[in-house]
Amino acid sequence: MEICRSIEECRAAIAALRGDGKRIGFVPTMGALHDGHMSLVKRAQDNAGAVAVSIFVNPTQFGDAADLDQYPRDEDRDLALLDQVGVDVVFLPDVDTMYPPGDETIVETTRLANMLHGKVRPGHFRGVTSVVNRLFNIVQPDTAVFGEKDYQQFVIIKKMVRDLHMPVQILGGPTLREADGLAMSSRNRRLTPEDRAAAVVLNRALDAAEARAGEPGATVEDIRKVIADTIASEPRADLRGLDTVAAETLDDLHGVLKEPLAIMISVQFSDILLIDQRVIQP
Ligand code: PAJ
Repeated sequence: MEICRSIEECRAAIAALRGDGKRIGFVPTMGALHDGHMSLVKRAQDNAGAVAVSIFVNPTQFGDAADLDQYPRDEDRDLALLDQVGVDVVFLPDVDTMYPPGDETIVETTRLANMLHGKVRPGHFRGVTSVVNRLFNIVQPDTAVFGEKDYQQFVIIKKMVRDLHMPVQILGGPTLREADGLAMSSRNRRLTPEDRAAAVVLNRALDAAEARAGEPGATVEDIRKVIADTIASEPRADLRGLDTVAAETLDDLHGVLKEPLAIMISVQFSDILLIDQRVIQP
């Protein structure tokens, strides 16, 4: 496994793999890797002969400095995990490498970035697209894998690639869950034991929504009520966001379910905000 910290090292490592005739798969991450990330690596390996992973805690997608400081970092453990599964290249740039001092160029999906989660976290998705664009320019992958768990991010990346004619195929990876159904996240380890136990309510609410959607004549309003009621039944959980939108455009849906519905929920436990999502077919 090649460990690269500079753009030059990364480009040389990728060029060597291409010289061997390999297609390049890419998984961008912010580290603190868990099985969810590793499932994306597996999906990339299944779709390309060689896989590169980036680890970069991207400052431009964090709203406040405290959140950025608290983001878990464990480089040695991450590298050992990636090495074990046979990743070919790991790119670990520092901030000045990704954002040359004095840089002024941003990439933004102007509509998608400023709705839903983007309203609560202004600038977040602009930071994501700006860094992913830079990473794509450095790694130049044939295919890149993103988790459906961060559903709005997944839709935004696909839109950026389409709008800017980037020669990258974007693949989605299903959300990997703990045995009790909680979506894996680096934030889970910051939950108190009581909040951790209560956090299964997100997946329970999505299960209940899916069951309701399967009943004849179910409306989006019925589905929203089931979710709100399920979350309200858990006293430790505070429902902060509930979006029921068209799976591709993220426009609000209403009435009887006729097209794929993306449900995105965010739920606060003490000072930790957890998100989860599910796409339901009509
Ligand atoms: P990060 O939160 O590290 O996530 C990296 C990738 O792992 C994302 O595509 C995310 O959707 C996926 N992921 C997270 N939890 C998952 C789970 N339980 N199952 C499957 N996939 C999961 O998302 C980011 O980093 C950043 O915004 C990034 C794209 C790297 C840009 O900085």
